[in-house]
Amino acid sequence: MSGRPSDSVGRVDGPEDLLGARILIVDDEAANVELLRHVLEPAGYSNLVTTTDPLKIADLCQQSPPDIVLLDLRMPNLDGFQVLESLPDLVPDFEHLPVLVLTSDTSREAKSRALSNGASDFVNKPLSPGEVRLRVSNLLQTRFLQLALREQNTLLERKVRQRTADLEEAQFEIVERLALAAEYRDDETGKHTKRVGILSAKLAREYGWSKSQVEVIRRAAPMHDVGKIGIDSAVLLKPGKLTTEEFDHIKEHVTIGHGILSGSRFSMLQMAAEIARYHHENWDGTGYQAGLKGEAIPESARIVTVIDVFDSLTHKRPYKEAWPVEKALEEITGLRRTKFDPRVVDAFFTLYERGETEGFTEETAAPKEVEPAGAPS
Ligand SMILES: [Fe+2]
Repeated sequence: MSGRPSDSVGRVDGPEDLLGARILIVDDEAANVELLRHVLEPAGYSNLVTTTDPLKIADLCQQSPPDIVLLDLRMPNLDGFQVLESLPDLVPDFEHLPVLVLTSDTSREAKSRALSNGASDFVNKPLSPGEVRLRVSNLLQTRFLQLALREQNTLLERKVRQRTADLEEAQFEIVERLALAAEYRDDETGKHTKRVGILSAKLAREYGWSKSQVEVIRRAAPMHDVGKIGIDSAVLLKPGKLTTEEFDHIKEHVTIGHGILSGSRFSMLQMAAEIARYHHENWDGTGYQAGLKGEAIPESARIVTVIDVFDSLTHKRPYKEAWPVEKALEEITGLRRTKFDPRVVDAFFTLYERGETEGFTEETAAPKEVEPAGAPS
């Protein structure tokens, strides 16, 4: 088509898109509006909206936001500067809306004021058709380029977020399955590890941890016994009392677990390693293997210890029956300050009283045979 704005028109979205751009013309002089129509329509622009009354701009923008505004500065009722001030509230994504100011006021002050209010470019009156077409074409191309770029960035960001989430999910799934492998002999379904994760997260939140750290412990706590993978089945599943040698062998699961999990740069695995190593430490320093005492024991391990014992007591294992909840709670109370951090125990009872442990226990009759509290879970 002859008389098109420029040969480069449509490089971004194709000529049809650019020529179909919605052009809003605001000039109180009808002759100027007509002149612009005669300049732009023969060039192929097909979507012109015009008004000689600047007060109508709000309605016109609401009906359909413009791709470009051609704006007169001197108008009664609402001048071009006031229109510029109002446009950010009328047009979504105003930062990408080009405004071409049509003015006979060539003073530096007027131009500077218009520019600071969001004007993109100027054409002087009387209007030159060629200049108007060129500036409209350039401004529209820039707008569509910016929009395309923004769309592409959004798409890329979405893809990156999705890939990151996929990777994280894969990472979590792998470690969950690792925990499952470790517990498979006495927790075939992996339910113990999952419950320990969920309840440890609840307890950490009650203990005052931040939301992000609560999420880390939710993922890390299920791996507390990953070191059991290195313990003999005959010892691990033996019902009743263990000999000193057998118990010493069981104790090694904290060192083995730490060995498996340590050295990672990921915070979740770092916490998992910490929990694996210290979840059998006692508040009074009588635990194993490091013999840490009180606050020297990492909080993560102090939290998981209480949940691990509670869950182990209230569920059936190959070597023991499930305890009634009341009896398990008595046991935990009795071990406050000796085995457990008293503040963690208090937070745990707050959870219990709020009913947050409901559905996490397996109420049964009195146990037939029970491991001493604090025995490896
Ligand atoms: Fe353990």
